Amino acid sequence: MTSTIPKHVAIIMDGNGRWGKRRGLTRSEGHYAGSQTMEKIIDASAELGIEILTLYAFSTENWGRPKDEVNYLMSLPIKFFKQKLPEFMKRNIKIYISGDIENLPKGTRDAVTKAMEETKDNTGLIVNFALNYSSRREILQAICHVIREAEEKQLDIDCLDEAVFEQYLYTKNLPDPDLVIRTGGEKRVSNFLLWQSSMAELCFVDVLFPDFTKEMLKKAVFDVNSQEEMKLNEYVG
Ligand code: IPE
Ligand code: IPE
Ligand code: MG
Repeated sequence: MTSTIPKHVAIIMDGNGRWGKRRGLTRSEGHYAGSQTMEKIIDASAELGIEILTLYAFSTENWGRPKDEVNYLMSLPIKFFKQKLPEFMKRNIKIYISGDIENLPKGTRDAVTKAMEETKDNTGLIVNFALNYSSRREILQAICHVIREAEEKQLDIDCLDEAVFEQYLYTKNLPDPDLVIRTGGEKRVSNFLLWQSSMAELCFVDVLFPDFTKEMLKKAVFDVNSQEEMKLNEYVG
């Protein structure tokens, strides 16, 4: 059997804070280390031939963290895109954002909007950042949108099926993830892609995100293949 690479891989990048603390650093220093790992994982994903990489960067629940940490997390995309955008253009990488962009601080909102705008015609790896993201809120907003359009007679409710409903999610136009990886050792989904990952393989890695490597990504990706192969072998007998 020829191994196929999952088309869409999603990562819950957990464990930055603990990584910092364990080294006698601040949680924010852990987030900086995480952002450097993220760069390596984007490179590795392009090399492996993954088509879409979704990265959970900030949940709506994360606003409840200490102000300094939230401010730092909001400053990271500004620094990140300022530095990386020319390279993303050169490498044909397209940036998507899933989440409530409107309610980000202006500097962060401007940086992510610019990144999406500048890369919109690129045709290579799609890097989809889940930023100010809540899966429940995404689903609820989609329902409100559907109801509004039905009331305004733009949508015939009898035609509403899964494929139509998906067009109201942030991830419209993207296929569902085949594999969801969570680093950091917790076995939770933390309000991430609840609709989209209903058929995905889940992989929980007991390594803090800054220590996650290209080899670990490769292993998770190929483990999905070998499990598929095992299922197929069982079926074939
Ligand atoms: C995940 O790492 C990154 C974000 C939530 C932004 P954490 O900050 O949750 O790190 P831990 O889980 O506390 O170690
Ligand atoms: C999940 O990690 C969110 C992100 C990686 C952005 P959290 O650390 O915020 O999730 P919980 O608190 O463990 O559920
Ligand atoms: Mg965490």
